[in-house]
Amino acid sequence: MANVRIAQRWERTKWFRQARFGMFIHWGLYAIPARGEWVRSVESISNDDYQCFYNEFNPSRFDPVQWARLAKKAGMQYAVLTAKHHDGFCLFDSQLTDYKSTNTPFGRDIVREFLEAFRAEGIKTGLYFSLIDWHHPDYPHYQDAHHPMRKNPDYPNDTRNFSRYLDYLHGQVRELLTGYGNIDIMWFDFSYNEMNGEKWKASELVAMARELQPHIIIDNRLEGSGESSGTILTADPTAYAGDFAAPEQMIPPAGVVNVLGDPVPWEACVTLNNNWGYHAGDRHYKQAGMVVRMLVECVSKNGNLLLNVGPDALGRIPDESVKVLEQVGRWMDVNAESIYGCGQADYPKPEWGRYTQKGNKLYIHVLEEQAGAICLADMAGKINSLRLLNGRSQVRLTSHWNVKEYPHHAYFFLNEQSCDNYPLPDEKDTVLEATLGEGTD
Ligand code: GLC
Repeated sequence: MANVRIAQRWERTKWFRQARFGMFIHWGLYAIPARGEWVRSVESISNDDYQCFYNEFNPSRFDPVQWARLAKKAGMQYAVLTAKHHDGFCLFDSQLTDYKSTNTPFGRDIVREFLEAFRAEGIKTGLYFSLIDWHHPDYPHYQDAHHPMRKNPDYPNDTRNFSRYLDYLHGQVRELLTGYGNIDIMWFDFSYNEMNGEKWKASELVAMARELQPHIIIDNRLEGSGESSGTILTADPTAYAGDFAAPEQMIPPAGVVNVLGDPVPWEACVTLNNNWGYHAGDRHYKQAGMVVRMLVECVSKNGNLLLNVGPDALGRIPDESVKVLEQVGRWMDVNAESIYGCGQADYPKPEWGRYTQKGNKLYIHVLEEQAGAICLADMAGKINSLRLLNGRSQVRLTSHWNVKEYPHHAYFFLNEQSCDNYPLPDEKDTVLEATLGEGTD
């Protein structure tokens, strides 16, 4: 890695690449209409018509300590909260606007309380900050790609002063990075068309962020989005290319590498149902087993999973999400060592599941029941010992009569007595730890 920026981002993201699992929290006024965080844009809602939600914002059940405990229980190692989403509403006490949680009936600095609660649980913290702002008068309205008034010629842009908006944006980032202690991640969102890179004065913004918090890691959306990763994938990334790629609602087929083949730190951000912000009608929740498999898939491709929750207008994480996260937590409680600090294995993906690896520990994730012995392809003589993570019981390699024709593979039964592999002890993902080395115990 000759390029300094590439080497630096590798160094900076060390904890991040170990952590592997984080919580994304999308929360704001849009929890009240409860039709997702894009509601203003999708339904062309004007500032005036959105104002009622600001006037009534008073989430009496907001309890960030409970959120943090849930994240911790689920095995999440970091959390990212929307300090400001596209609607422009600030969850912190910005001195640069009145459009903030401290001015609503609620009157509290949500960002500050979030940070305190999560830090207290030992969870690293990040802030999502929207580059786009549908409330600020100097942000392009008519004919912008996304603005709620984009189709309305009554909102021309002639008198809008974008550089004034940039001062506001930079000023707010400065506020967040000076007034709130140590911030681990800055998650900017997002660039599109000509609203990209230096249009945001991105070099200056990143220089400021790194000066205020030298260790901070930054996503790639100052020049990218879920649609394109930007120069983070090139041999010569810009100063604002970011420290990690942020694929959205999908897990890249082969992880993320740059044009040189160097691994690029990455994090798939994924919703638990189909919306980021709270949506009262969206009951399409992923099951815990699927979440576990997504997490394992990310890790097996050297990536992280940032899993979203969207608290409701009272401040509660929906029951469905809580249930799923608690189940994931029970799996993590036993199997987290196959996730934290792990990455892609030296062996290709097996037919019945996945591998993750940390040093000479190969984690064998059995996802599918097998009629016969489970095949560890090309591992004959390479496995020193095999343990089920749940209970750390020994699992023996087998030389059963029907595998003798395949001497270069290793095989085992989870169910030695009946020489089969069903039902699996953990239907979400049964994990074994293989210690790689010569000789078998
Ligand atoms: C987006 C969306 C958004 C969400 C985000 C999360 O690009 O605009 O609402 O916050 O991605 O990745």
